[in-house]
Amino acid sequence: MTIHYDRRKFLKQTAIAGAGIALLQSPFKSYASEHATKVRVGMIAIGMRGQLHLSEMLKRNDVEVIAMADPDKQMMAMAQALVKQFNKKAPVEYSNGNHDYRNLLKRDDIDAVIIASPWEWHVPQGVEALNAGKIVGMEVCGAIKLQDCWDIVHAAEKNKLGVMPLENVCYRRDIMAVHNMVTKGMFGEVLHLQGGYQHDLRGVLFNDGVTPYDSGAEFGAKGYSEAKWRTQHYVDRNGENYPTHGLGPAAMAVNINRGNRLTRLSSVATKSRGLNRYIVNHPKGGANHPNAKIKYKQGDIVNTQIQTANGETILLTLDTSSPRPYNLGFRVQGTNGLWEDHHAGEFDKGMLHFEDISAKHTWDNPQKFMEENDHPLWKRFEKDAENSGHGGMDFFVDNAFIECIKRKIEFPMDVYDLATWYAITPLSEKSIAMGGQVQGIPDFTNGKWKSRKPIFGLSDEY
Ligand SMILES: NC(=O)c1ccc[n+]([C@@H]2O[C@H](COP(=O)([O-])OP(=O)(O)OC[C@H]3O[C@@H](n4cnc5c(N)ncnc54)[C@H](O)[C@@H]3O)[C@@H](O)[C@H]2O)c1
Repeated sequence: MTIHYDRRKFLKQTAIAGAGIALLQSPFKSYASEHATKVRVGMIAIGMRGQLHLSEMLKRNDVEVIAMADPDKQMMAMAQALVKQFNKKAPVEYSNGNHDYRNLLKRDDIDAVIIASPWEWHVPQGVEALNAGKIVGMEVCGAIKLQDCWDIVHAAEKNKLGVMPLENVCYRRDIMAVHNMVTKGMFGEVLHLQGGYQHDLRGVLFNDGVTPYDSGAEFGAKGYSEAKWRTQHYVDRNGENYPTHGLGPAAMAVNINRGNRLTRLSSVATKSRGLNRYIVNHPKGGANHPNAKIKYKQGDIVNTQIQTANGETILLTLDTSSPRPYNLGFRVQGTNGLWEDHHAGEFDKGMLHFEDISAKHTWDNPQKFMEENDHPLWKRFEKDAENSGHGGMDFFVDNAFIECIKRKIEFPMDVYDLATWYAITPLSEKSIAMGGQVQGIPDFTNGKWKSRKPIFGLSDEY
């Protein structure tokens, strides 16, 4: 598949958009200056998520995938098979253990890396990539320690290179339409936002790879894909371990780090029951299975209340260990009305009410409002996004990453956003351990949030 745009129109718009945004703010120099028509990418970790990014890269004729690093030979073989399907040149492999990515980073023919490794590797690999002169696209999660957040900010600032958190949910079609409505002031002044990660992950956390879901009671060395590493976090930690899918869109709606900032949070967790119960009841588990005897520290449901400098509140809910259908549970509420998302994120469903338009105490028909406010990006690239992962969101997040590098402009979400979002995890762990005590959220912009201007969603190109 090729990207559907008119090349001349694209070049003209590039120049205009590039000049406009660069004037606004661009603290990071572009590494790809001499290669602005083609971005040379290195993939760090090409597991299930990395392969989705890889296919987005392979679809494009403005990207060359130079090399891939992953110690798992099976994942490497799957990734190379994908490259073959697209008739592209086989990337150089770095699969000699956990630190072979360092050899990929030594190459001088790579402009940017996409990191989709287990959570504990994100910041070390990101910092090393920046120190090696590479622009970074980083998959989502939360930090292991608060210091990690400072480390990635300092590495980006020192090397004057961009970091983009690859938070695809910010690009969900309904969320972008609602973002438009917020920007137009349709909800009045925003008061409160909700979101979260409400996804039954039990079949991911225990998975022996025989079939994709619900296929086992194993994790760690006997596990497949995320069961190899993610589950251990549930054994060792108790916090909001996946904040960005809920927080990213909320942060964009109220301009966090761009005129606003997160100030404080407080988290509480339920007891932990879901994972033990799952193993006990699983056909390959049972009460005597060793994994049924483990004490999982992670509470089944974690609620985190966040305050902002401009007086909004954000409620994040993590709910991944219980039987439940998927729903990220978004809500945007202002002085004039609110939106609550459809359970499966369907664009023209969901619930909307505006005091000045809707019948009193009645949910309005969302279709008209969603269609009227459909984001220009989605209208423009709908076809390109058709077969992309996560209902098309993956196209948009990767497109933004590549287009901003080519244009040498700031990413719509950057290292300060990444640090702020990642910080929720260690701060929530501390808050829960202290009975819900309020924790201050650092200002990773060091005061720059007061003058930085919003940029997310303002372009119909990226
Ligand atoms: N945004 C989304 O929608 C979304 C969806 C799924 C996963 N994710 C995130 O993507 C990341 C990866 O998740 P996944 O589902 O692909 O997990 P996965 O287990 O399928 O893949 C992780 C890969 O990292 C590799 N790896 C481990 N240590 C490494 C190292 N030192 N260097 C290089 N590679 C290493 C593993 O071999 C594996 O292939 C996580 O942060 C996860 O939370 C995001």
